[in-house]
Amino acid sequence: MKEKNYLFGVDVGGTTIKLGLFTKDGKLLDQWQIDTNTDHQGAGLLPDIAETVTGKMAEKRLRVDGVAGIGLGVPGAVKDSSYVAPCANLNQWGGFNAADALSKLCGLPVRVINDANAAGLGEFWQGGAKGMENAVFITLGTGVGSSVIADGRLIVGAHGAGGEIGHMKINPAETIACGCGGFGCLEQYASATGMVRAANDLLAGTNGASALRRLPKVTCKDVFDCARSGDHLSILLVNRYADTLARGLSIVSCVVNPDVFVLGGGVSAAGAFLIDKVKQAFQLYAFPPTRGTQIKLAELGSDAGIYGAARLIL
Ligand code: BGC
Repeated sequence: MKEKNYLFGVDVGGTTIKLGLFTKDGKLLDQWQIDTNTDHQGAGLLPDIAETVTGKMAEKRLRVDGVAGIGLGVPGAVKDSSYVAPCANLNQWGGFNAADALSKLCGLPVRVINDANAAGLGEFWQGGAKGMENAVFITLGTGVGSSVIADGRLIVGAHGAGGEIGHMKINPAETIACGCGGFGCLEQYASATGMVRAANDLLAGTNGASALRRLPKVTCKDVFDCARSGDHLSILLVNRYADTLARGLSIVSCVVNPDVFVLGGGVSAAGAFLIDKVKQAFQLYAFPPTRGTQIKLAELGSDAGIYGAARLIL
C-alpha cells in the first residue's frame, strides 16, 4: 500500500476559506484561500472546497492514495468530528454530517472540528498557552468563538457546543437578532462585525466630529486605527468593545477559572492597544479569586486554524 504522506487543513471563515497542504510531519508546503460562498444556505461551500482540493492534488501530482485526509475547521458546534450544527455566520449552513458529505465529493477521509478549537489546538500546542492545563483561547473575527482547556482536556460538551462563548446572552435589551437567531449574544458586540455595527450606529446617532465620517465604509480596523490616533468617537467605541469583551471573559472565568485567556482572530491584530484596555476592564468585573488571570495575544496568527485542522488527521 502506498504511504499517505500528505494532508490538508481547511479553515472555513465567514468571508474566506483558508487551505493548507501539509506533509504528514506537519510541515506546511503550500497555502491558499478561496472566497466563502454562503448563497442558498452555503450549498456551494463543500463543492468549492472539494474542487480546490482536487485541483491542488492535480497541480502537485498527488493521488488519492497518497493523501491521509482533510481536517475541516468550521465556525459552528461540531459533534463526533463530523456533524455540524447550523452556523450563525454561514447563513445557517450545517445541520448535517459534513465529514461524510465532503468525503463523498473528493474521495478522502475527512474529520471536522470547530474553528476556534482548531486554532486553540495550535495555540495550546505551540503558541501562547503552551503547556497550560487551564486555558481559554478566544477568536475575535466575523464571530466570537473559543476553545476551552479545563484540567488538561478540551471541553466539547454534550452537543459539541462547549466553548460557544460568542452566544452567551449578555444584553437582554437587544432588539436585533444574532446570526444564531438569539438576541444580545456577546458576538453581537465583541466581533469585528459588532464593532462595525456599533460604529455605524454611533455615527448615525450623534453629529460629533470623527475621522470615521470621511471613510466610505467603516471597518473594525479603521476604528482601532482612528482610536490610536486620538479620534474621540473611535476611542469611545474601542473602550465599549473592551468593556463588553472583559465582562464576557469575567463570566467565563467564573466557570472555567483559566490561567490564561489567549486572544486571537482578526480583531486581535489591534495588539497591546486592545489587550491593555481589556485587562483594565477585566479587573472591574472579575470575581476576586480570578483577578490574576493572564490575558495575552495569540502567537500563531491567522495560520493557527489550518494547522489545528490538519493536526486532526495526524
Ligand atoms: C460560532 C462558533 C465559532 C465562532 C467564530 C460563532 O458564531 O458559533 O462556533 O467558533 O463564531 O467563528
